[in-house]
Amino acid sequence: MDLRRDVTLGARLAVMRTGGLALALAGDPVLRLLYRPWIDDPTPVQRQLREAAQPYASRSGVLVVATHALCRDVVRDRRFLVRTRSGGSLGGSVEGGRDPLLEPVDLSFLGMDPPEHTRLRRLVGSWFTPARVAALEPLVVDLAERLADDAARRGRFDLVAEVATPLPVTVIAAILGVPDGDAAAFARWGRAVAAGLGGVRSLRALHRLDAAIAELRGLLGGLLEQRRRDPADDLVSHLAVQDAGTEETISLAALLLLAGFETTSTLVTNAVAAMTDAREPWAQLAADPDSAGDAVEETLRYDAPIQFTARTPHETVRLGERDVAPDTVVMAMLGAAGRDPSVHTDPDVFDLDRPTKADHLAFSGGIHFCLGAPLARLEGRVALAALAARMPTLHREPGAVRRRSLLLRSYQRLPVAT
Ligand code: HEM
Repeated sequence: MDLRRDVTLGARLAVMRTGGLALALAGDPVLRLLYRPWIDDPTPVQRQLREAAQPYASRSGVLVVATHALCRDVVRDRRFLVRTRSGGSLGGSVEGGRDPLLEPVDLSFLGMDPPEHTRLRRLVGSWFTPARVAALEPLVVDLAERLADDAARRGRFDLVAEVATPLPVTVIAAILGVPDGDAAAFARWGRAVAAGLGGVRSLRALHRLDAAIAELRGLLGGLLEQRRRDPADDLVSHLAVQDAGTEETISLAALLLLAGFETTSTLVTNAVAAMTDAREPWAQLAADPDSAGDAVEETLRYDAPIQFTARTPHETVRLGERDVAPDTVVMAMLGAAGRDPSVHTDPDVFDLDRPTKADHLAFSGGIHFCLGAPLARLEGRVALAALAARMPTLHREPGAVRRRSLLLRSYQRLPVAT
């Protein structure tokens, strides 16, 4: 443990915490999203941000865009990048590297600009093809049905812990080639690391996160060694025979775990919460489980798991009504874009039959468009069909707990009963 580093980081954390609360109390819409009542229902804040002149200048120093058109422009325009001109984290205070508070985890190519991004994305993409994902369907169906059968037998359960999380964790472990014996530790460390993705709030959380990252990297490093000696038909073996360094390969494998499981777990949870709250959509899905694909798209539009992404230009760029100076952070509110009334009629209503539902930005766009979108769609569709077919009267029980994160709009617990 480095004491001097801890003192500096601790002081910055305190400033960020009190500054964030003060700005939220003073009415800054972006920071309000971390607090009640807006954390439970962000609709008024999203509307306020969309209706403001774009981009909206948050008092936290970032520019915010919240309309569908401008969010799409930001993620598609190649002049907007994910690192500052010195190579640092967006909004960070570390020159030329990752800021441990804002970017505590190495997110491999998700945090890189071309040409490095292009090279690493290709390396994974050449194995992780749509055909390979389609071939996973029998495994996903078998798992989802077993989880849903067990849950239905219990009658009362926490959707997050019992169904929504074990499904994507098991699938990503199978993709990477993590042996069954290591899967539980893999899931535990993955969960701990994913919880820190949106930034950390305390030194204790940072230390816990550092320990979990070290353990996860150890496990993946051991797996890589083993696959170099004895390759199998999995992604780590594919990476092992490519021309990539050990650290680089471990970061790639960790990215797939981290990008893939909390997000997919959140998709399933948010879908069940939205549809059972509105009742009609859940009954409609139970009567026709084949409409689960529609439920996935409508959930991604209505309650996007990843609420925003951020970019910065390296030159002055005109965006909406402002010139954006180099290194200014622009937040694209993907969740608010899904509720844009200029694209979706009655956007705050969950409607399985909505014709525009797939017109969302929940998987971002441009060169960072989610590499796992086909897998997320497959897992979401299969899980929702399995749940609705077995539990047509599923409903919430008291005790739901939301995760306090600007990035990931999700539940820590969602108790439900049949
Ligand atoms: C519902 C579930 C998911 C959602 C909502 C989601 C959302 C996103 C978003 C918004 C981005 C881009 C962020 C940006 O533009 O800065 C992204 C990138 C990415 N996602 Fe997903 N994701 C999901 C599931 C998955 C799964 C299952 C995997 C893989 C197993 C995955 C792997 C990735 C990777 C590797 C990237 C980085 C792409 C790049 O930088 O080129 N995601 N995801």
